[in-house]
Amino acid sequence: MPQKRQLKLGFMLHGVGMGWGDWRHPDGDPAASTSFEYYKRQAQLAEAAKFDFLFVADSVFITEKSSPHYLNRFEPLTILSALAGATSHIGLVATLTSSYSEPFNVARQFASLDHISGGRAGWNVVTSWLEGSATNFSKASHLAHDTRYRLAAEHLDVVQGLWDSWEDDALVHDKKSGVFFDPKKLHALNHKGEFFQVKGPLNIARSAQGQPVIFQAGASEDGKNFASSRADAIFVHHENLAEGKAYYRDIKQRAAGFGRDPDKLFILPGIRPVIGSTEAEVERKYRDFANLTSIENALSMLGRPFNDYDFLQHDLDASFPDVSAHGANSNQSTSRKILETAHRENLTLREVALHFATPRTEFVGTAEQVADAFQRWLEEHGSDGFVVNVSLPKELEVFVEVVIPILQARGIFRTEYEAETFRGNLGIPVPSNRHAVPGVAVAAE
Ligand SMILES: Cc1cc2nc3c(=O)[nH]c(=O)nc-3n(C[C@H](O)[C@H](O)[C@H](O)COP(=O)(O)O)c2cc1C
Repeated sequence: MPQKRQLKLGFMLHGVGMGWGDWRHPDGDPAASTSFEYYKRQAQLAEAAKFDFLFVADSVFITEKSSPHYLNRFEPLTILSALAGATSHIGLVATLTSSYSEPFNVARQFASLDHISGGRAGWNVVTSWLEGSATNFSKASHLAHDTRYRLAAEHLDVVQGLWDSWEDDALVHDKKSGVFFDPKKLHALNHKGEFFQVKGPLNIARSAQGQPVIFQAGASEDGKNFASSRADAIFVHHENLAEGKAYYRDIKQRAAGFGRDPDKLFILPGIRPVIGSTEAEVERKYRDFANLTSIENALSMLGRPFNDYDFLQHDLDASFPDVSAHGANSNQSTSRKILETAHRENLTLREVALHFATPRTEFVGTAEQVADAFQRWLEEHGSDGFVVNVSLPKELEVFVEVVIPILQARGIFRTEYEAETFRGNLGIPVPSNRHAVPGVAVAAE
């Protein structure tokens, strides 16, 4: 019997949680965002459940209004390098901003993680939406939204070019003749572009999976074109399945338009499941979470995609204010979506803030209901899988114990890893080295 299409699942390692109030829950650990033991436990639990990858989000600018997790947390590549030694099969995806990192350093850091982990690294290429980021990097101003994406494309060109510096058989290591490497198989990049001039070569060779896997989360027009032309997987946030299906169709069509195989580009919405054994328990758990978020916290969350805009200055029960100018050069797509929803449904500021801070989606339910939702999104082409984010440590245990077995029993999620590398488990090929004799991509493992 042909195998059913399989879900791709990531788990978001997010310390004390996404919400401003999650740390206050009786089961919460307020120090989780800098606890290696906490991250290790969650990583090993996710790996035992056969998740495809761990994902670590990031940003490079905080204010006193940032969420508790953002205020005090690990740098992504550092924590994932440590977790590489505590895991063996799960993919390790780190967020790093192209707007505030030199491509040579980025190429080197991810290639190192890829070697340390035996071919399990992934890079989530983000452009950074907070204007204040510039003030931490000796820059006069934050680049414009479209310029950030143009720079990201060139940045990625340079990084991927550097990753191919060494052909796979360049390091001869012949002790007898004393030949360490074949100089004909080491290549400089000599890149001269609009934003970067990088000579190369890189001082580390390719890993077991050739190159790290590329993730992206852009949702604006520029973001969608960048992601569908360059990424192996895309993160996104949706309110419902109808929105998911429209986005899915759009992105897969764009990918095909760029000459790519749309089946090799995975669309993975972020979700926050809340699971109970009965409908009454689901309701109680959801209310417990929702009640941890005060209206002040909800306003801070709402302000984020508008460049940390201060919504407290407005009347909570009046119509949603016109703040479009604050979103345009920040998180363009999310801020636009919020404005559109507010105007279409004629919502007050209080209503928008609570809707955004404590969304009640179809992933809030009993194990069967949540598994049904996973299956529905997969079968109706709303997604290829999900990035699961739970705010409390016990919620991952619950998800792994009660939802994963249902997905496995239905034949839509693996019971064993297929391969050792991240590409192997995703079922995407190892990219051939651009300098090697031209040929088709080598099949993964
Ligand atoms: C699930 C998910 C995770 C994201 N993680 C990060 C992150 O860690 N750091 C970051 O700067 N942006 C992150 N983003 C935001 C995107 O990079 C992007 O800025 C956002 O989706 C808006 O798209 P746009 O820049 O094309 O307007 C994430 C988005 C989603 C949907």
